[in-house]
Amino acid sequence: MHAIDTRHLTKVYRGHVARGAARSLDDLTLRIAPNEVFGFLGRNGAGKTTTIKILCSLLRATEGEAFVMGKDVRQRETRAHIGYLPENPYFYEYLNPRETLDFYGELNGLTRAQREADWERLADLLDLRSIAEQRVRGFSKGMRQRLGFAVALVGDPEVLILDEPMSGLDPLGRRMIRELILLLHSQGKTVFFSSHVLGDVEQICSRVGILVKGRLTTQGRLDELLTRRVNRVEIIAEGLSDAAAAPIKARSDGVRQSEQGRHFFTNDMDTANSLAADILQSGGRLVEFTPIRESLEEYFMREQENDT
Ligand SMILES: Nc1ncnc2c1ncn2[C@@H]1O[C@H](COP(=O)(O)OP(=O)(O)O)[C@@H](O)[C@H]1O
Ligand SMILES: [Mg+2]
Repeated sequence: MHAIDTRHLTKVYRGHVARGAARSLDDLTLRIAPNEVFGFLGRNGAGKTTTIKILCSLLRATEGEAFVMGKDVRQRETRAHIGYLPENPYFYEYLNPRETLDFYGELNGLTRAQREADWERLADLLDLRSIAEQRVRGFSKGMRQRLGFAVALVGDPEVLILDEPMSGLDPLGRRMIRELILLLHSQGKTVFFSSHVLGDVEQICSRVGILVKGRLTTQGRLDELLTRRVNRVEIIAEGLSDAAAAPIKARSDGVRQSEQGRHFFTNDMDTANSLAADILQSGGRLVEFTPIRESLEEYFMREQENDT
């Protein structure tokens, strides 16, 4: 069983078609295993929130279906498996964090004792004790995000669906969310979160999916995505005469000289291997052979550009 399983999900907002707009979500098929931390990447308007709202049953898909923990998201009971953090969490401004969690606990059908236990657990986890009795009204973005996260964790759901959990936070706030996600992972939870904050995604996700204008253009394990696309290799050689270097230079995409020796660049792994062989055959010595891997950021940007 998958923790999250979507099949050909498509969303066309009513009124959107008339204005000539395309599908907001187009044929999204995605499977996420239990205990995965999955990063759902895309620019503003890519369709991330639309997807998340369908998973949380706040929105109906135009076509396709979605399952969480093996259950259709359109069934009421499915929601009990999901902890949801909205992009802009909404609170009753006159309640304090303790009352807020109690309220959501009650909505989730928890007993008083369970709600008490949840408060104890979540107050520590999200550092809410010092603001336990303060009304939400005066809360900063960071405090609201902590409280929103606590609300998502009420009832201890197995699957966390977080919409841009790090956006709008300062570096400390982002780090706290990152650490929280890693902690949830270590507790066996499944975490699905959307972001355009690549650095954060790169650090904590086992897999990512990239959404471009409603379509999933790429998905996979981060390490595989990044190694599959070795886009540049740098070879450093020494002991080559100018005459021996000339043909190698001619087949490179760039050259440079340093104290280490001659640097040859190429954009292709096969060429890099054959250049290395030529260097050795011409009496040179390899000092370095370095595939220059793209950061996720470069990769992500290219995926986006390909479509625009
Ligand atoms: N309620 C709505 N009515 C019409 N169009 C919408 C609505 N919500 C979102 N959209 C459109 O759907 C697309 C995807 O939006 P959204 O899912 O919010 O993207 P993201 O969360 O990735 O920024 C955008 O083009 C947006 O304008
Ligand atoms: Mg969004």
